[in-house]
Amino acid sequence: MSRSISSVVAGSPVPGEPGGRVSSTNPARTGEVVAEVSLGDAGTFVAAARAARAAQQAWADVPAPVRGRAIAHIGRVVEANAEALARLVTREIGKPYAEALAEVREITDTCDFFLGEGRRLYGQTVPSEMPDKQLFTFRNPVGVVGVITAGNFPVAVPSWYLIPALLCGNAVVWKPADYAAACGAALFDLVARGGGLPDGVVNLVLADGDTTFAGLERALGDGLVDKVGFTGSSAVGSRIGELAGRHLQSACLELGGKNPMVVTPGADLELAVQAALFAGFGTAGQRCTSLGTVIVHESVHDSFVALFDQATRRAAVGDPFADVVYGPMLDARFADRFGDYLGWIQPHHRVLGSTATGRITAASPRDGFVGDPEAGIFCHPVIVDGVREEDAIFLNETFGPLVGVTTYHDLTDAIRLANVPGYGLSSSIFTSDPAEVFAFRRGISAGMVSVNNSTSGAEAHLPFGGNGKSGNGSRQSGFWVLDQFTRWQSVNWDYSGRLQKAQMDVAEIRPDESFRLAD
Ligand code: UN1
Repeated sequence: MSRSISSVVAGSPVPGEPGGRVSSTNPARTGEVVAEVSLGDAGTFVAAARAARAAQQAWADVPAPVRGRAIAHIGRVVEANAEALARLVTREIGKPYAEALAEVREITDTCDFFLGEGRRLYGQTVPSEMPDKQLFTFRNPVGVVGVITAGNFPVAVPSWYLIPALLCGNAVVWKPADYAAACGAALFDLVARGGGLPDGVVNLVLADGDTTFAGLERALGDGLVDKVGFTGSSAVGSRIGELAGRHLQSACLELGGKNPMVVTPGADLELAVQAALFAGFGTAGQRCTSLGTVIVHESVHDSFVALFDQATRRAAVGDPFADVVYGPMLDARFADRFGDYLGWIQPHHRVLGSTATGRITAASPRDGFVGDPEAGIFCHPVIVDGVREEDAIFLNETFGPLVGVTTYHDLTDAIRLANVPGYGLSSSIFTSDPAEVFAFRRGISAGMVSVNNSTSGAEAHLPFGGNGKSGNGSRQSGFWVLDQFTRWQSVNWDYSGRLQKAQMDVAEIRPDESFRLAD
């Protein structure tokens, strides 16, 4: 069944197609239209920001514990719709159904965490340096938050922004990925209606990237947006960060990754292979936490690669409603770009993992494929052994089912190699030696470190975010994200009836500096 969707501003669907019309299709069966999408233009984004501005103060005036109740309701209604939402995720972006359900679970986990935050949202009481004076801190909402998200986690990652931003008393303009617009519209309804939110507190803009950028630029110029949250590529993230910086704002940026996995001589190789398979090829390698390069000790390289190759060749690929490791690419544009990355494979590389590279077709089949490869946009898994640190494949994110393998001699060099690409989102080490764990943790540039686990699979209440090309140091999830969506306000209250001047009217303690203990 296909649906028609459009932007929603101040509680009303935006009529017409100011930005044109696109069809969002099922990447596993490209003939199937999931939604007809009426796109907005830059003016739609500005109108949404204006609606958010108009609604925000009244929302901030709702006591935080009551806003927490709204978050609780959202969590329940998402749970009640979990299967329907997961099916939509699978249909629209091809994520295997089990993973799609887990993605929906991440929304309820996020709601579970933040519903209680409505009863905390603590400020502090702080002693003053003067008598009859008291100091306090308060968290104030930022105001209007503009959120722009990718489509690889079309509902979980948006909830990382929407839920805490709303809990903190902000109003939101959300622009989901255009190729995941139906998932966006569904989550929008669950949040707006399920939370019983007043019109304009959350607004949905369906638009392409350039239009969104133009709308955001205008809205920032008109003083309608106070905070920008962006999940997507490092290249676009740096443009968004630059734009926000011009308006003296620091954007919350969650960008790409080239996430390393170090496999030490003491590693459980079978476990490391399972993790590499899930981290490298789950969601067809299109998570920002996907495994980039395995950095394996030279003494176990051959055994690891043999096992990894075998596991990858056996991995079920195909229909995302079946029990597969991965399904189609998110959208045709990602398959095209992945084709460019495959062009980085060089003669000194050894290609493993499947019988071919590129699109899986009748002419380029894959053993054990589940379903009809020609119906959708499916790509062979690729292991590229023998990558060198100067290779494009080693240095850049290759969003798609491709994992590089290289070797190391000592752990210091493994850590150096892991940091060379200059990203810093996630990382992993397989070892049985605590000293190696802590040396890796200390030396790795990544914001997230897994020990004996996949590079992906972050839990919803730990700080999520990266450094370097993976982000500007902002962190999402858990109480850490509250600093993105609130501003600290400090208050000093003098009830002495006198003008007490800080640093000037402060009582002094006079120490006896010459005092010494008798020998
Ligand atoms: C992303 O790829 O944008 O850790 C987010 C994970 C998921 C979230 C990934 N929980 O893989």
